[in-house]
Amino acid sequence: MSLRTATSGAAAPEGLPAAVPVHVGVIMDGNGRWATSRKLPRVEGHRRGVEALRRCVRAAREIGIRFLTIYSFSSENWSRPLGEVTELLRLLRLFLRNDLAELNATNVRVKVIGERANLSPDIRQLLADAEALTRDNTGLTLVVAFNYGSRQEIAAAVARIAQDVAAGRLKPEDVGVDMISQRLETAGIPDPDLIVRTSGEQRLSNFLLWQAAYSEFVFLPINWPDFDKDALLCAIAEYTRRERRFGGVTKSPGP
Ligand code: FPP
Repeated sequence: MSLRTATSGAAAPEGLPAAVPVHVGVIMDGNGRWATSRKLPRVEGHRRGVEALRRCVRAAREIGIRFLTIYSFSSENWSRPLGEVTELLRLLRLFLRNDLAELNATNVRVKVIGERANLSPDIRQLLADAEALTRDNTGLTLVVAFNYGSRQEIAAAVARIAQDVAAGRLKPEDVGVDMISQRLETAGIPDPDLIVRTSGEQRLSNFLLWQAAYSEFVFLPINWPDFDKDALLCAIAEYTRRERRFGGVTKSPGP
């Protein structure tokens, strides 16, 4: 049975898509449901989720996506049971230790967004090492959103702007959309063209709220551990059928 998106029922195509989005954001959802439906512990879903993540990064490289942002741990995920949080932190460590060499060898640049202050020193070091090792790579940029919350990111940017205004370095009338974009952790990264969420849930859950103003959303009815290149191609095929107007109007075919 072919994979169909929640939106149009479009089937996954053969080969490469006609139009490749520059930046794809992925909300990797459904690990717990994947596991519990198989009578496995939830953490087994996260473990299989790391394999799906590897498939996703490889597929993104093969397809020619320039930026891939993965939502791997949200600011709100700390409220999960301690054992699950501990396993997610362990999987991040493993991913960074085991996969960094391949990422670097395949010209992937790693960038991390999210609050690092309350992460343990060894994780902070692994994140910094991954960024430093791959900084000059020119292929896919893999943006790892870890301990990330978009509202927190926006609030921090606004606070820094307020400090600059209070100190007289900025005038209130100078504050605008571009300035806020430049003060977000994603400064320099184009806004996502496409945001894919697995598991059938249809919400953003505090992911790239500002950056997603004109993103296309595709919701796939599969759980994240089942994600593969066909699923990514299916989401991109749906994306290529959308007409992006950015608040404007459709170009008329007339004279
Ligand atoms: C959502 O599924 C997924 C997460 C909260 C974590 C995503 C993590 C991975 C894919 C693997 C770890 C990767 C790294 C790099 C740390 P869920 O648990 O909310 O699923 P559910 O909604 O079915 O319960």
